[in-house]
Amino acid sequence: MSVIEFDDTMLVNIKHIDKQHKKLIDILNKLRDAMKAGSGKEALEEVITDLAAYVEYHFKSEEDLFKKYNYPDSTKHIEEHKSYIENIGKFNEKFNLNKTLGLSVEVLNYLVSWVKHHIMEVDKKYSEFFNSRGVN
Ligand SMILES: [Fe+2]
Ligand SMILES: [Fe+2]
Repeated sequence: MSVIEFDDTMLVNIKHIDKQHKKLIDILNKLRDAMKAGSGKEALEEVITDLAAYVEYHFKSEEDLFKKYNYPDSTKHIEEHKSYIENIGKFNEKFNLNKTLGLSVEVLNYLVSWVKHHIMEVDKKYSEFFNSRGVN
């Protein structure tokens, strides 16, 4: 299990958004560290709680920008956000039902694919649009 470090390839060049993405990577690494130490299950509650708060705050930040500047590709992007919110809800449900077998691995893999797919492919698409409008 290698640690994902926030680096320049993840930057969307909007300061407050980059800061929030870094927070997601902190949550991911917290879970990974706990799993390495054999306490993944114990860390899950905090990780799921942090994620629920993070998505609400972070997606609103992005979607506020979309609205303010009429970002043309917002519909599909917002749909993806909704699916992240739903899936975190499902993780929370599983956790509450004590279905924690394999849940740490599932959540961790999900967060890695979130960074690699959503941040590095989908989010990065808006950089140029916003940067060219003076948002950075
Ligand atoms: Fe994002
Ligand atoms: Fe996004």
